[in-house]
Amino acid sequence: MHVNHKCIKIRTVYCLITVTLIFALLYLYNTSYLKKTEVEIPRVTTIRPPNETTETFKNVAPKTTTKYILLWTDPSLHPFVYFGEGNSIFTKGKCGYTNCYVTSNKELLRDLTEYDIVAFNGPQLDIGDLPRVRSFHQKYVYANIEAADNYPICTDDWNHFFNWTWTYKLNSDAIWGYIVVTNSSNHIVGPSLEVDWMSLDDMAPIDMDLKQKLATKSKAAAWFVSNCNTISEREEYVNVLQTYLGDFNLKIDVYGACGTFQCPKEIMNKCLDEVEKKYYFFLAFENAISEDYVTEKVLLALNHYAVPIVYGGADYSRFLPPGSYLNAKQLGPYNLAKEMFDIIENREIYYRFFRWRKYYSFGRRFENPDSNEYCKFCAMANDENLMKETKIYHNFSSWWNAKICNFGNNSTSMRK
Ligand SMILES: *[C@@H]1O[C@H](CO)[C@@H](O)[C@H](O)[C@H]1NC(C)=O
Ligand SMILES: *[C@@H]1O[C@H](CO)[C@@H](O)[C@H](O)[C@H]1NC(C)=O
Ligand SMILES: *[C@@H]1O[C@H](CO)[C@@H](O)[C@H](O)[C@H]1NC(C)=O
Ligand SMILES: *[C@@H]1O[C@H](CO)[C@@H](O)[C@H](O)[C@H]1NC(C)=O
Ligand SMILES: *[C@@H]1O[C@H](CO)[C@@H](O)[C@H](O)[C@H]1NC(C)=O
Ligand SMILES: *[C@@H]1O[C@H](CO)[C@@H](O)[C@H](O)[C@H]1NC(C)=O
Repeated sequence: MHVNHKCIKIRTVYCLITVTLIFALLYLYNTSYLKKTEVEIPRVTTIRPPNETTETFKNVAPKTTTKYILLWTDPSLHPFVYFGEGNSIFTKGKCGYTNCYVTSNKELLRDLTEYDIVAFNGPQLDIGDLPRVRSFHQKYVYANIEAADNYPICTDDWNHFFNWTWTYKLNSDAIWGYIVVTNSSNHIVGPSLEVDWMSLDDMAPIDMDLKQKLATKSKAAAWFVSNCNTISEREEYVNVLQTYLGDFNLKIDVYGACGTFQCPKEIMNKCLDEVEKKYYFFLAFENAISEDYVTEKVLLALNHYAVPIVYGGADYSRFLPPGSYLNAKQLGPYNLAKEMFDIIENREIYYRFFRWRKYYSFGRRFENPDSNEYCKFCAMANDENLMKETKIYHNFSSWWNAKICNFGNNSTSMRK
């Protein structure tokens, strides 16, 4: 009132301008305030109750607050697609920590620097599409479950960029792999850079039941394969191997797109029964020759009573017990064919390949909270010391794929 009165006394025009400005400011303040609260409230509340000291929250997560994990690259692509949105991947896996919130929504929090972790999927890395802002406290994570040979990085663009790695490589900060080995007291023993396997001679010979089970074997080897043209050139190897095997009157039955035997996905279990009953060996040939790149193919062999013949870039002693497999790359096709023949001809030698069964078992990593990588990852996000510790991959390509980049153009330009 007092103001108005004064205004009229001075100049109506000034007064109107002032009032308009005040309203304008009030309006702007209100809307920006509203926007702020709107962004703060969303579904996050489903896992972060307003009062984090309440009992219910303590039951869900032993530690403090929600950890936000932002999937920077396309969340619909393998393997980010398995995350889903929110924390269900952690609750479903019965993880020790379930207070991690995964999202691909870059606007879920007010600022990109508020996410604890930002994850990039190797195959979709794009130097032209990076977060605008970054905080020193955040962990930028390079994730990849595909072989380095298929997705090499041969530039310096990614040096000093990533804090953590999450890949199948066994020297990653977190492992995102395909298999896990447990011993008979249910401890995880591999894969690992160093595994203290029992020696084959210390393992007891197999029992009668198992011998009986193996008695139905009649065919040399099966190979399930759909990609017929790989940079590992496994198909060339198998062609040569077939020729040598022919000399022994043996052959590999090739199932799938690259062969003459069929096994559609719907009847996969039937095919695996066939493997179990009939085949001495099973080819676990990787599509790329990269260190530590060993996929679930080897599990099909091990868990279906066929001896795996492995082909890949791994040091297989990190993955498999001694005497449980044949290494195609080390032997070469001629020696491999000969070994296969000798083993098939001599039951006692064949039996030795199954001694491990009494001492170890093999499975997928997500089947067990102790080896579930999502659980491990959320646990890492909750590890204050680990989060605070500065870690930087200064020379990324030398960590990820040292060997390929030296070859020059060929293999490096394969896909991306
Ligand atoms: C949270 O709950 C605790 C115990 O129930 C209470 O003492 C505290 O004041 C609450 N805090 C807020 C911010 O409501
Ligand atoms: C299994 O591994 C754990 C950890 O390495 C070890 O302590 C335990 O003795 C092993 N169990 C057997 C039966 O070898
Ligand atoms: C993450 O990496 C960046 C870039 O090299 C670095 O500045 C930052 O200190 C690192 N932070 C942590 C927590 O490791
Ligand atoms: C990265 O490591 C490789 C192999 O060790 C080396 O040739 C290259 O010069 C290093 N790059 C930088 C930027 O240090
Ligand atoms: C690799 O390719 C680039 C162009 O793509 C070419 O300039 C270079 O000479 C090639 N290097 C080798 C070793 O072939
Ligand atoms: C590179 O490609 C050329 C032509 O395609 C081929 O002859 C050569 O063997 C390749 N080198 C390597 C190391 O792969």
